[in-house]
Amino acid sequence: DLTNDIIDAYLLFGEDRVCLPKYYEEREAEVENFEIRNDDVIVASFPKSGTTWTQEMVWLLKNDLDYEGAKINIIDRFPYFDLPETCNRNCKQFFNDLRNKSGTRFWKTHLPFSLLPKQIRDGSRTPKIIFVMRNPKDAFISYYHMGLCAMGWRANREDFAKVYLADKVMYGSYWRTVHGYCNMRHLPNLLILKYEEMIKDLRSIVQKTCAFLEKDPLSEEQLEKLCAHLSFKSMKSNPAVNFEQVINERKRYNPTINGSFIRSGKVQGYKEEMSPKLISEFDEWIKKNIENTDFDERYAY
Ligand code: A3P
Repeated sequence: DLTNDIIDAYLLFGEDRVCLPKYYEEREAEVENFEIRNDDVIVASFPKSGTTWTQEMVWLLKNDLDYEGAKINIIDRFPYFDLPETCNRNCKQFFNDLRNKSGTRFWKTHLPFSLLPKQIRDGSRTPKIIFVMRNPKDAFISYYHMGLCAMGWRANREDFAKVYLADKVMYGSYWRTVHGYCNMRHLPNLLILKYEEMIKDLRSIVQKTCAFLEKDPLSEEQLEKLCAHLSFKSMKSNPAVNFEQVINERKRYNPTINGSFIRSGKVQGYKEEMSPKLISEFDEWIKKNIENTDFDERYAY
């Protein structure tokens, strides 16, 4: 039963009681005490909120639009801090490599603010952090599909919703993550982006992020080329960001796995997939939690 499998696989970490795999115990201290540099660049999110999209934008802006360099897989350019296994390295080796890396270090994380390394939380280091958030129903549906396509789940949406709404999915709770970063909105080194605004007006978000990263403004031509590179269609067919290799590898072991990581890229796509009953359950949950977040009501429901 998916519900029990998921719940059994996790422990709760930190004051926010974040649901993480048991093996996180081994790296909790490593993350907590990791030496941060002020020129580190971090993309943070709750899973399935447009993390990869944001990473690609940030990496290209910070690297002076090096499209050649961007052909290297995003996992190697912009590793996943809290899940080194996805970078094909063991935990110790991963953190050592990151420690020894010269130049700007980029990493992504799904950790809530309360579990970020101590030096970030106490403000003694001020790396640039870009937090991206997305409508929780769309993030839920995207998470569900990732389960089907990357993990071979066979649960239905209703069963997965029970786990999701109970904060028992990996990195749950959705709201504690969103509240944690939104509460820190006063930090000059934190930029909060919304997936829906990126869909609506990518140009403005690119310009805003460019200024946040303290880079020179882009020319019209550069802006156009970058937005085309970041378009859904272009990212879907770009092997450096679409996790094609990872998914194909998993398909070899589990032929029921189907689908792609860059899937549909829609705002309110959940409407095509959730029953009215499930939508109203989510809406109740959103209503209870939306206060004091940076959500625009238009996007949250
Ligand atoms: P969907 O499953 O709804 O399509 P993350 O990187 O945090 O795991 O987020 C994945 C989601 O971002 C997926 O959502 C994916 O399609 C979407 N995404 C990735 N690149 C995108 C792009 N260029 N434009 C729009 N959505 C994109």
